[in-house]
Amino acid sequence: MRLLVTGGCGFIGSNFIRLVLREHPEDEVINLDKLTYAGNPTNLREVEKDPRYSFLKGDICEPSDVEEAFSLRPDAVVNFAAETHVDRSIISPEDFVRTDVLGTFRLLEKARESGVRMLHVSTDEVYGSIEEGSFKEDSALRPNSPYAASKAGADLLVRSYVRTYGIDAVIVRSSNNYGPFQYPEKVIPLFVTNILEGRKVPLYGEGRNVRDWLFVEDNCRAIDLVLRRGEAGGIYNIGAGEEKTNLELTRAILEIMGVGEECIEYVPDRPGHDLRYSVDSSRVRSLGWSPRRDFMAGLRETVRWYSDHREWWEPIKSGDFRRYYLEKYGDI
Ligand code: NAD
Ligand code: TYD
Repeated sequence: MRLLVTGGCGFIGSNFIRLVLREHPEDEVINLDKLTYAGNPTNLREVEKDPRYSFLKGDICEPSDVEEAFSLRPDAVVNFAAETHVDRSIISPEDFVRTDVLGTFRLLEKARESGVRMLHVSTDEVYGSIEEGSFKEDSALRPNSPYAASKAGADLLVRSYVRTYGIDAVIVRSSNNYGPFQYPEKVIPLFVTNILEGRKVPLYGEGRNVRDWLFVEDNCRAIDLVLRRGEAGGIYNIGAGEEKTNLELTRAILEIMGVGEECIEYVPDRPGHDLRYSVDSSRVRSLGWSPRRDFMAGLRETVRWYSDHREWWEPIKSGDFRRYYLEKYGDI
């Protein structure tokens, strides 16, 4: 199969491309990525010489870029490309509406024209917050941040193309991912690298918010399974069932890294901060998927990766990101 992967230079996309090339020797991958601040070609250094891999720099919102990618005749498209950080969506929502909604629309138009399967990577955040129980795939979407609302717009557009035009599309709604190559604006790599730099970790509010942590490789395996075996028009939640409060998560990181609670700096809460995300993943589990990494093992592996790959994250944290960090957190 020849796959067109969008956003393949980001965190999950790069892990997905490595997994596909490793597990499916017959497959080819075309990676269409705009290389925003979050896109890093070195994430794919391991495969860049593989003749089955090719890279196209381009924007999913630009019809000519999407046209060029589809002219390479992919058999399926997997859409990871998005603006992804909730805090940035609160500061500047426009990029989110553009890429996450308009970009998905452009891909849907080409999927409709060419008849290829499209797997759209959505998020558990489209459902909004839930105090008890877990969302099922047919639960209402009640997004609360500009990021989540943009992702919900895209998700609903995909649904409308299935219903109206009968395209072959599948949607995955994954919970919070963690693991190697995650940009250090997200909580786990931010906290781990801050500790490696001798800084404190900025914990929002009282640290009571709950997220369900999914190791990135487990998510990629689920996405790959849904791509190949998911029912046309199907929606699949993906979660590991590893729910932790942010304070529990932070304490686990501190314990692994051998530092104490004095490293926590409680900072003002995020506006509109969703209290808890939780999805029921029985549908994807019935296809034969289950997570392989338990939380502490995955977290240890992640801490080790950031400790061993300072050359990956130090240039990010000392570059443009530094200004963003200082404006947001001050000198923590
Ligand atoms: P990321 O921010 O690490 O990477 C995004 C990638 O998309 C980057 O390589 C960037 O250059 C590229 N990109 C951005 N705008 C583009 C555009 N207009 N055209 C082409 N490429 C563009 O993101 P991630 O964490 O890997 O997330 C990937 C997908 O998974 C996103 O759709 C996100 O909403 C979804 N998701 C992420 C998580 C998570 O925990 N990280 C959880 C659930 C769902
Ligand atoms: P994040 O990694 O931004 O993912 P998301 O908002 O998509 O769930 O944040 C995960 C949780 O960690 C979320 O509840 C907010 C919290 N958080 C902090 O407490 N401090 C931080 O500096 C960041 C970035 C997040």
